[in-house]
Amino acid sequence: MTFSELGVPFRWCSRTWTMTKITRMAKPCRGQFAIASGCRLLSVKPVDPPLTSERYKVSRLPFSQVTAQDLNCFQQLVPGRVVTEEDDLRSHNIDWLRTVRGHSKVLLRPQNTNEVSEILRYCNERNLAVTPQGGNTSLVGGSIPVFDEILISTALMDQVISFDDISGALVCQAGCVLEALDKYLERRGYTMPLDLGAKGSCHIGGNLATNAGGLKLLRYGSLRGTVLGLEAVLPDGTILNCLNSLRKDNTGYDLKQLFIGSEGTLGLITAVSILCPRKPGAVNVALLGCESFTRVLQVFTLCRDRLGEILSACEFMDAASMKVVQTHLKLNNPIPATAFYVLIETSGSSAHHDEEKLNEFLAQALDTGLVTAGTVATDQTKILSLWALRERITEALAHDGYVFKYDLSMPVNKLYTLVEETRARLGKSAKTIVGYGHLGDGNLHLNVTAESHTDSLLAALEPFVYEWTAQHRGSISAEHGLGFKKRDHIHYSKSTEAVHLMQKIKRMLDPKGIMNPYKTIPSSD
Ligand code: FAD
Ligand code: MLT
Ligand code: ZN
Repeated sequence: MTFSELGVPFRWCSRTWTMTKITRMAKPCRGQFAIASGCRLLSVKPVDPPLTSERYKVSRLPFSQVTAQDLNCFQQLVPGRVVTEEDDLRSHNIDWLRTVRGHSKVLLRPQNTNEVSEILRYCNERNLAVTPQGGNTSLVGGSIPVFDEILISTALMDQVISFDDISGALVCQAGCVLEALDKYLERRGYTMPLDLGAKGSCHIGGNLATNAGGLKLLRYGSLRGTVLGLEAVLPDGTILNCLNSLRKDNTGYDLKQLFIGSEGTLGLITAVSILCPRKPGAVNVALLGCESFTRVLQVFTLCRDRLGEILSACEFMDAASMKVVQTHLKLNNPIPATAFYVLIETSGSSAHHDEEKLNEFLAQALDTGLVTAGTVATDQTKILSLWALRERITEALAHDGYVFKYDLSMPVNKLYTLVEETRARLGKSAKTIVGYGHLGDGNLHLNVTAESHTDSLLAALEPFVYEWTAQHRGSISAEHGLGFKKRDHIHYSKSTEAVHLMQKIKRMLDPKGIMNPYKTIPSSD
């Protein structure tokens, strides 16, 4: 067994351990997500994916088409912020994974709620379909028009409205980039209750619209709990102001919850009020190696038991995931190669207290043979290097080929069985099959890559993955949403009655169906 030390004085030395000193670690890369899609440094111009409507054989609904007169009206509503050049529209018409493509002819860039309201009122009257777009990091094709829907970008709605440094309530426009908000809060001793690999690109409005989970859900809980209020514009232009900053408010239905996770199908979120925690004073990250998934589960149980309230993240990745970040991103694995890796983060207010607890946990994990090797980081640079190994798997996979992406939640002891069964089922027909995810949340990311999209591989994966998940009482979308790609599979996770009620709510708020059509809720026809 080996245990290497990165920043923490090595305290757990016993005669059974071999200490390996790591001399060099990869540079921190988290900040590179500031241009998340640009991270994929392709040397040749990438080939555009086929049009979504062709690959998936979808028929256009009878919405109006944008005319020259519409463009004139838009120019009056958002002067100088109407984008129609094909080259400028290209990146907005293709998703981050480069798997779906629309052909929107116009993108509007409102700066405030009133402009959004005017745009939607006009589009509703004219029966023009729209797609809200934040940072365009959706992994389910939610942010891309399927045909020629008008794109409404929140990119220019990026102002912080207020921050209460006693309660921690932050109020901001929907287009604020998650990482920018975190930096804003850091200067004030606070942090965002949400963290994800796309933080440099995704917008807080997009995070709410997808109810993003991410890397710190274990600590801070879901956005359904931390969002205090929001403002949204309904399809007919009505401004719905639920932007309060109260922790407790039981007056009537909690309407904000309708918009959280609604993926732009009920209205456009224009502002957000969110409860932010204090920035933790002490953070430690440990990367541990385990020989089997059974050991991974035992490490999870042990760390919950021994670390208790200071545990802030518990992620896992398999050897194949480690291989893709090493191969495509040249990241350095600081511990000896093994079958599984667990990344544990602690966040607390007392470095001494946290270190002591972590040391005890690690000593027990090593002594009992749950962990074969590990490394601990306490300084920021090294912490980021360890996190990069886990956070950048998504990006590495995009280099590997066409990615079939599944985001599933299920009883935690079943998480890896599905990966193994998928491997057995696909044999050599896939290029790479990886399993990683948010162990602490029972959330598996099963990803399969191939040189290109093939209908045969898709048919081998679906409905197999969804049926398997349903049989184990799981959800076919733990955190990424349904978007375009998973819409018609909703019934694997929701009852017929529940889907009918969703369709009724959709019809009530959006009778013409102009908001992000073809997404999330199956059509009731
Ligand atoms: P977009 O991609 O632009 O839009 C997403 C959906 O929300 C679309 O349906 C869009 O129409 C709608 N929408 C956007 N803005 C608004 C608005 N203001 N009002 C109404 N609807 C709107 N997700 C997780 O849950 N956990 C993760 O750990 C995670 N990691 C990721 C890592 C990478 C590298 C990438 C590329 C994606 C990751 N995602 C993750 C997926 C993605 O859901 C999140 O990145 C993010 O929440 C999307 O925000 P966005 O601003 O990019 O939204
Ligand atoms: C993650 O946890 O890394 C994200 O949800 C993205 C992904 O699933 O690849
Ligand atoms: Zn995730």
